[in-house]
Amino acid sequence: MQRVKQELLQRLEREHLVLDVGCGTGKLAEDLGEPLHCVGLDASREMLRVAMSRGHKHLVQGDVQSLPFPHGAFNAVLARNLLKHTGNPEHAVSEMLRVTRASGFTLILESCVQDNIDKAFMEMISNHLEPFQGGSLICREILSLAERSGRVEASFPLTSGVVASPDYVMRQYGVRRDRALEFCRLMKEAPDAVATNRRIVVQNDCTVRFDLRWIAVFVTPST
Ligand SMILES: C[S@@+](CC[C@H](N)C(=O)[O-])C[C@H]1O[C@@H](n2cnc3c(N)ncnc32)[C@H](O)[C@@H]1O
Repeated sequence: MQRVKQELLQRLEREHLVLDVGCGTGKLAEDLGEPLHCVGLDASREMLRVAMSRGHKHLVQGDVQSLPFPHGAFNAVLARNLLKHTGNPEHAVSEMLRVTRASGFTLILESCVQDNIDKAFMEMISNHLEPFQGGSLICREILSLAERSGRVEASFPLTSGVVASPDYVMRQYGVRRDRALEFCRLMKEAPDAVATNRRIVVQNDCTVRFDLRWIAVFVTPST
């Protein structure tokens, strides 16, 4: 993730206006750790309520499939782990590019699957936890839909280690404690192939560490 953060911060200037689509609880803007002029948009009123309680001010309820902003309104449009939740990821990307300034960029950052074991892992999660519902996307599909929608400037695969304690899961996904505990239980019961592939390590009764695979794609609107 450090590499994405570096690439992203290099492209952003202090006065840039940023849109975080599918902002959820506002974690992406927090993870960047820089003061940004950032608008967060999410379909869920509940997620926005949590984001507001965490100090985020510029929040809009809306749908990525029909963004309530004019063409080219933002220097940068960011979407982390959103596409798999939308019915039509290709349309979502073209909407994000529509509101991106010609000189700007859209960043798609999505945890994704590369093979059947990855797919089993994502399905195991998405079948049990609401925030993850929406199935899984294959890394190369994300790249090819970005290529069809705009001009891909950079793309790279990433792996991040997640230490998932109940508090982390509650904070990250705005779920109740019982859901967070269920998440950790599920991870502990993962089949061997999945556990090995994702390097799932049980740290204690309710905390697990696992690898998440991602793809990061920087896209600019095609002229
Ligand atoms: C897994 S969460 C990711 C949250 C955040 N981007 C992050 O990385 O912490 C997915 C978010 O996308 C939102 N979402 C799902 N479908 C959406 C849509 N069609 N338009 C806008 N937001 C949507 C959900 O409400 C949820 O907050």
